[in-house]
Amino acid sequence: MKPLFIVANWKANKTEAEARLWLEKLREFLRNDPPGLKEIIVCPPFFLLSMMKQYVAQHELPINIGSQDVSQCGRGAYTGETPASLIQAYARYCIIGHSERRNHLNETHETLVHKVEMALGSMILPIFCVQDANTPVPKGVRIAAYEPVFAIGTGNPDNPENANRVADKLKKDYQIMHVLYGGSVNENNVKSFTSMRHIDGVLVGSASLEASSFIHIIQNA
Ligand code: PGA
Repeated sequence: MKPLFIVANWKANKTEAEARLWLEKLREFLRNDPPGLKEIIVCPPFFLLSMMKQYVAQHELPINIGSQDVSQCGRGAYTGETPASLIQAYARYCIIGHSERRNHLNETHETLVHKVEMALGSMILPIFCVQDANTPVPKGVRIAAYEPVFAIGTGNPDNPENANRVADKLKKDYQIMHVLYGGSVNENNVKSFTSMRHIDGVLVGSASLEASSFIHIIQNA
């Protein structure tokens, strides 16, 4: 069996109370069913990082925390920004280059190159999102997520064979070690992706919001 990354991207969702309830359910599940070779990563909004990290440490939960973004700025006079050097204490991973940020917040490739540098400089591992096999990947990225825009939040995933071809190409073109697939992943289709030779996990949006469906994704992956 190969190691698998199962990543929950909560996007702009969950209050602190909702996040705690979700964690309680995941904890109950993992108590009886340890994740083994599955690396479970939960990416909440920034304001929940500290609570989540504390919860995970207190209960020795076998999961990692990630952020959904990182600032291209360093520490200093940058109102509203959250730099990698401050996230470092809470997050081992961060998502960079999600299409929602590229499209709604006009993030350019140059911006994303800076973000990757900032993350790596603070020992945070980027999970770099690409929209197709030709999206450029900044130097230093070792984990990528292939997320075609048509599949995000639509219930219309890519077909696993095509996702596998894209993953293979990304690994050949860049020094990427792990490629995840994201876009309308759910408990019924997760295995069709994770059983592909070049796909090393999944990035899950909508279906990660309910603890029970995320748990089924972990079980079925
Ligand atoms: P989705 O989102 O699972 O809701 O399609 C995936 C993502 O945007 O990472």
